[in-house]
Amino acid sequence: MPGGFDYRLPAVRSLRSPTAFRDLAPSTASFRDAVLAGLRRTSKQLSCKFLYDERGSQLFEAICDLDEYYPFRAETDLLRRHAAGIAAALGPGCQLIEFGAGATVKIRLLLAALERPSAYVPVDISGDHLRQAAAALAADYPGLPVIAVCADYTRRFPLPDLAPGAGRRVGLFLGSTIGNFSAPEAIAFLATAAEQLQGGGMLVGVDLKKDPAVLDAAYNDAKGVTAAFILNLLTRINRELDGSFDLANFAYVGAYNADAGRVEMFIESRRDQVVRVAGQPIRFRSGERVHVENSHKYSVAEFRALAAHAGFRPENVWTDAMNLFSLHYLAAP
Ligand code: AVJ
Repeated sequence: MPGGFDYRLPAVRSLRSPTAFRDLAPSTASFRDAVLAGLRRTSKQLSCKFLYDERGSQLFEAICDLDEYYPFRAETDLLRRHAAGIAAALGPGCQLIEFGAGATVKIRLLLAALERPSAYVPVDISGDHLRQAAAALAADYPGLPVIAVCADYTRRFPLPDLAPGAGRRVGLFLGSTIGNFSAPEAIAFLATAAEQLQGGGMLVGVDLKKDPAVLDAAYNDAKGVTAAFILNLLTRINRELDGSFDLANFAYVGAYNADAGRVEMFIESRRDQVVRVAGQPIRFRSGERVHVENSHKYSVAEFRALAAHAGFRPENVWTDAMNLFSLHYLAAP
């Protein structure tokens, strides 16, 4: 070391806000089991939660920068425009628990408007991404305790217990990630959240039903970033599960299914082929699809009914002038 002595600045640490990291991340074995089970089905499927390895998280951020992908911009504009009203609904001194925490733009908008937030608890399945986001935020908000939890929030997980008097719990579920769930899954997720958040509430970002042409453009962007994002799952399987997918032999397909009210995203095999995953042969027919993601779209009334079904009391709704996106504040009685 230059200078030859170990010099640290202990005082700086204590000036920073306390940051903690709880690792409840699912194991590689559970990833392997889920992938093999999904690929052995007659109707092949892989869960979209596996899209977010480090590269996947980066590609999703690139999607948010696309002109065609309106949800990110529409929601961010709503948060900016209605920051004061949203902060009033959430109330002073609340603990923020964010389900799925990637880019920090949105939480920063909220933090700027909220009165004395008592803690920020980001929960995400992508550990590296979460660590970076939590550290960046803690550095910029001295005095705000940040407790990052790396977990699969589609399953029940323990929330950190904060000191009594830490304030009511308010959940944040932004970006229309709720759209990944089927209606029964969304109700189950929200019902668990309603229990965890008792006495507090939840702010949920929900993409609205709209002209299918707008949806088609958003999920089939001209630069092919969405395709790269979905197909990256095969690259991840190759790396982590010793897979032999040749990406030239697969294509991305994304289309709005009006009957189901959702955009459906698939990986389609371009030929008859056999791929090995974790030592197991998996057979594909030409044109066969692997269902990877759903993105459900709701009307305001549909989503309020769903939230009520899960035990929340739907309160405020904010929408933009073009009716692209909605933010719902749900009280957890
Ligand atoms: C993160 C689930 C909200 O459904 O719009 C974007 C994911 N997939 N483009 C969405 C996604 C392809 C996104 N969510």
